[in-house]
Amino acid sequence: MKKLLPIILIALTACSQGWTAWEREVIGRQDSLMYVTTIGADSAILRTVSIPVPPELLKSRELKDLTGKMLYTVEHPSQDGVGIAAPQVGINRRIAWVMRYDKPGKPFECFVNLQIDSLWGEMTHGPEGCLSVPPMRGLVPRYSNVKISYTDLQTGKTASEEVEGYTAIIFQHECDHLDATLYIDRADTVFVSEDWARERETFSYDKPSWWK
Ligand code: NI
Repeated sequence: MKKLLPIILIALTACSQGWTAWEREVIGRQDSLMYVTTIGADSAILRTVSIPVPPELLKSRELKDLTGKMLYTVEHPSQDGVGIAAPQVGINRRIAWVMRYDKPGKPFECFVNLQIDSLWGEMTHGPEGCLSVPPMRGLVPRYSNVKISYTDLQTGKTASEEVEGYTAIIFQHECDHLDATLYIDRADTVFVSEDWARERETFSYDKPSWWK
């Protein structure tokens, strides 16, 4: 039994990394605009540390569908974010989209198994909001430079990159989501932005009927 235990544990770990029934259900919804989790009602999801997407799922249809719908959601006029992390659509996996302010045309880019390897440079206190924390804003201290790593979906290998400026702040915000941290945990000041609240009145935060 002693010899079998590690094998059983490895097998269990491998099983737990496949798409769960819940993840398949969320990803398989017909609507491309995903339900965005918010603090309070969905804190259990937002406060859970996300797990990696294992190699065998990198080419899966579920990952393709999920990332496609996350992009549709973050770009949707009702959300209009500069980044979105998978826990914000109900999936505790290390996946995030980041708007690349450091590239021409500010394209959105998807990062699977995203993590921050190091942080350095000047610390600034800038205003941040979050689709999952309406209708608040906060002044948050962040580093000016980050080194991120992620899984390259074409090669399946780990890639890394150094980023600076506002894009580096978005990476810190999104990586925090994957580590179950929200900007309000780090903020010096949190306040309600009237303009921002008005802007978001058009979007209903009520849970849709299918959400359990
Ligand atoms: Ni956020």
